[in-house]
Amino acid sequence: MPTVPKTALPHADFEISKLIFGCWAIVGGFNWGPQDERDSLTAIRAAFDLGINCFDTAEAYGSGQSENLLAKAMEGKRKEIVIASKVGPMDFAPENVMSACERGLKNLQTDYIDLYQLHWPNPDIPLEDTLGALQTLKDQGKIRAYGVSNFGNKSLDICKHSGFHISSNQMAYNLIFRAIEYSILPQCVKDNVPVLCYSPIMQGLLTGKFASENEVPDDRARTRHFSHRRSQARHQEDGCEKETFQTLAEIKAFSEEVNIPMGSLSLAWLLAQQGVGGVIVGGRNADQVSKNMEALKVKLTPDIISRLNEITEPLKEKLGPNADLWQTDSRAI
Ligand SMILES: NC(=O)c1ccc[n+]([C@@H]2O[C@H](COP(=O)([O-])OP(=O)(O)OC[C@H]3O[C@@H](n4cnc5c(N)ncnc54)[C@H](OP(=O)(O)O)[C@@H]3O)[C@@H](O)[C@H]2O)c1
Repeated sequence: MPTVPKTALPHADFEISKLIFGCWAIVGGFNWGPQDERDSLTAIRAAFDLGINCFDTAEAYGSGQSENLLAKAMEGKRKEIVIASKVGPMDFAPENVMSACERGLKNLQTDYIDLYQLHWPNPDIPLEDTLGALQTLKDQGKIRAYGVSNFGNKSLDICKHSGFHISSNQMAYNLIFRAIEYSILPQCVKDNVPVLCYSPIMQGLLTGKFASENEVPDDRARTRHFSHRRSQARHQEDGCEKETFQTLAEIKAFSEEVNIPMGSLSLAWLLAQQGVGGVIVGGRNADQVSKNMEALKVKLTPDIISRLNEITEPLKEKLGPNADLWQTDSRAI
């Protein structure tokens, strides 16, 4: 088995592979369209065979279906993998955290979850109470560590002063969505909270698979890059479709110049960022998984990184510091 670099998470006694397999798209349906279960299972197994030990899932992905698929694909391998799952914000009341965890354990056919994450902030429930419930689960051995996701500066501050210790913050971060660089990533670096980046290839856009904005189906065009007129959008912004595709074209041209496939270049750029503990990439079949693993072989020079920063800076400024990919009234607080 090839060696994949690992990150030791704080307040956890295990390591995660720097590339993490994201188990959302493998359920198909909302956002993704039809998906063959055999492809999902072989994608998970390919990730494991290629050296990934960490799998990110959530009860929200197909109402437990993603957790079920992971359990099925990895039967007999439990001790060799790290399962990162999530509890949804509607379940943040302490008693609900407990019952959500029990459901997760059942779906995953295991008696512990390695990293249990709060999926989005919920300002209606005192965060200290939710963190207390996570600590109880840790003390009981039902989870080995806990983390957060989509947490902005305010919520991170509450975590810091709560006396409870989070191991990670999962955030949307990629070459064409750099919002966390304004203030969230710096805070995570300062407080030693590794960032686990999601949508690292911007749901396929950063592989160059869509030649123009018109090719992106509406259910994939829900992010703030696209117009609020797209049928599935939940924001009120005009978007920046032209600028997004101009930036993608420049990244593509540069990837050809340096002879590194666009997807690998995008993943390698993220892996090189300070404060990034892991990059969670989805793959709907074994072929996509093995292509994404190629990023680990890419070594970027400082010049390449600077050029990519330069190409994507105007789009970063246009989208601003709102770290919520989908909504104008950011829930990433
Ligand atoms: N915490 C959160 O709120 C949150 C939110 C979103 C995601 N996540 C996590 O992060 C993971 C990754 O994010 P994501 O799935 O949104 O986006 P992503 O990893 O940027 O994109 C994955 C999608 O890109 C396409 N793709 C993958 N590899 C490819 C390749 N080599 N060539 C061409 N296309 C390729 C596939 O879709 P097609 O083949 O259909 O194009 C795949 O499903 C998720 O699975 C989930 O675990 C967390």
